[in-house]
Amino acid sequence: MKLRSLRVSILALPFMLPLALAGAAVASDGPEITDELVALGEASYARECAACHGVEGDGEGPAAHYLNPRPRNFQLAVYKLRSTPNGELPTKLDVYNTITNGIENSMMPAFASLPENERWALVEVIRRFGGIEEEQGEAITVSARPEPTKDSIANGMKVYDRLDCASCHGVEGWGNGDSSLTLENDAKERVWAANLQTGVYKGGSDPVELYKRIANGLDGTPMPSYSAEASPQEIWDLVNYLTVLPEQAAW
Ligand code: HEC
Ligand code: HEC
Repeated sequence: MKLRSLRVSILALPFMLPLALAGAAVASDGPEITDELVALGEASYARECAACHGVEGDGEGPAAHYLNPRPRNFQLAVYKLRSTPNGELPTKLDVYNTITNGIENSMMPAFASLPENERWALVEVIRRFGGIEEEQGEAITVSARPEPTKDSIANGMKVYDRLDCASCHGVEGWGNGDSSLTLENDAKERVWAANLQTGVYKGGSDPVELYKRIANGLDGTPMPSYSAEASPQEIWDLVNYLTVLPEQAAW
């Protein structure tokens, strides 16, 4: 069977998708910043992070040269994984979540085993590298996820076509669109559009996270923000469509 027809026939399936438990993360700014906490963070950073992100947070640790994508340069204060609009700083909680969960499809490890206090201390230290200890962005409001009905998924597929996601991600979402052959990030490294058929995402596969990636974009990369071009309903339809792609791949 041709892939194109698989893509269409999935719309005829009965759906048993788990409903997202939206908004499970509790909003928090972490503990009060004291000299002690910063000292804890600095020691932890030197031990756990500097080999990749560099002693000064410039992304030039000894291991950096072997990695693609390279470790983030915190001095630039540009973050991919945000709940805040395009071009804005992340919230402290965004950075905390990244440290806790790591980044799939990259060499960024998960540090869930470190005590919570120490993870918040690390948030503070890497924000200081970028000179943003006083500032953080404001998270967008994400409405409740509508049911992934056949109609919603079918509309998601239409929105995917209308917004030309295919130019980078490919018609079927395999990450093989024409533009994907030439993409670069802000640091002029060669990057590729994500393969949307794997169901593995840098910011996690929780539908609420996928919504934020599409609405807010991934700063520093060619992945644009679509909050101006698509309504919240349309972004949810896109998310609902994306969540069935990996099932299609499994066939
Ligand atoms: C083995 C190498 C390695 C180590 C060790 C490491 N990182 Fe990373 N980190 C990476 C890479 C690679 C990326 C970029 C991933 C990407 O862009 O997809 C990254 C990205 C990040 C980001 C960027 C998130 C965003 O939204 O753009 C943060 C924050 C971060 N790391 C924090 C840390 C902290 C804190 C530590 C230590 C506790 C640490 N990292 C240790 C490799 C590493
Ligand atoms: C100009 C090229 C381009 C276009 C157009 C584009 N993307 Fe992307 N997209 C990317 C790149 C590049 C990445 C990977 C960024 C990275 O991880 O460094 C990405 C990543 C993603 C991710 C993965 C997020 C994660 O957490 O890993 C999703 C989901 C996504 N895009 C959905 C879409 C959707 C939906 C559209 C259309 C509405 C779209 N993209 C349009 C280039 C593009």
